[in-house]
Amino acid sequence: MSTELATAAPAPSVTGAGAGRQTGQQDGPHTEQQTGQHGPYAVRLEHVSKSFGPHRGGGGGQQVLDDIGLRVAPGEFVCLLGASGCGKSTLLNLVAGLDRPTSGEVRVPHGRPALMFQDHALFPWLSAGRNVELALKLAGVPRAERRGRAEELLRLVRLPDAYGKRVHQLSGGMRQRVALARSLAQGSRVLLMDEPFAALDAITRDLLHEELTRVWRERELTVLFVTHNVREAVRLGQRVVLLSSRPGRIAHEWRVDAPHPRRIEDSSVTSLAREITGHLHEEIVRHARH
Ligand SMILES: Nc1ncnc2c1ncn2[C@@H]1O[C@H](COP(=O)(O)OP(=O)(O)OP(=O)(O)O)[C@@H](O)[C@H]1O
Ligand SMILES: [Mg+2]
Repeated sequence: MSTELATAAPAPSVTGAGAGRQTGQQDGPHTEQQTGQHGPYAVRLEHVSKSFGPHRGGGGGQQVLDDIGLRVAPGEFVCLLGASGCGKSTLLNLVAGLDRPTSGEVRVPHGRPALMFQDHALFPWLSAGRNVELALKLAGVPRAERRGRAEELLRLVRLPDAYGKRVHQLSGGMRQRVALARSLAQGSRVLLMDEPFAALDAITRDLLHEELTRVWRERELTVLFVTHNVREAVRLGQRVVLLSSRPGRIAHEWRVDAPHPRRIEDSSVTSLAREITGHLHEEIVRHARH
């Protein structure tokens, strides 16, 4: 079941994925606010459009995003799907404050979000611990506290022995864990993730899904997670938002009712993923025709 959405209306409940549970029950830290339609929000986009090119907002430019409306409630985990080039990273950059919309409004009331990319972007000349400490320093944490806080964050991502290790001594999955620790070191309540696990093998990715879900719940984070992987989106998200292409608009939105912890092979995950994949394929075909 799905609904066409001109703006971010409350997503329909996907009973096929829910095994009879209401979305939000014991699922996250701010259950009463999870639809994000009313009440407090951690991220809000209203009528957001973005064009690139010589004539911003008008002829000659490339309109990438068109009239995006999206609210993410505090503590909510929302996954964003869409064809390559539809504007997912552009949208994340707007929320991160790295770019400004051509029109419309982006609000992130709890301060600057942390951003985590597919490429871990750790400094190779620093140890894992020092990479995390650098983020703590930039977040204004006093020098005397940094070591302890970095070790605590590395423990949180299950890397208690990685403090002195250099980046080349870590596996791909370990590097992404350090990158997650570094993102958390910024102290943001909102975490923006742009295909953070795309380069990892399936088993490592599965482990990191578990870690991320645990950290999200423990830290009461709001997460906006971009992926190409439909199962990953359904495995992780309380909501899955599908963007159309050229220009990017919110095409569909699904609530995922299955309780956490979920596994990628759960039938509730695979059946909803199949439905969403059908819609994603339509969007990709439509994108290819333009
Ligand atoms: N700074 C920029 N200047 C000009 N065009 C840009 C800029 N950033 C993105 N674009 C264009 O905007 C469109 C959307 O790009 P974006 O990176 O947001 O897509 P995406 O959905 O993240 O794609 P992918 O899934 O491949 O990562 C693309 O056509 C891209 O070329
Ligand atoms: Mg991208």
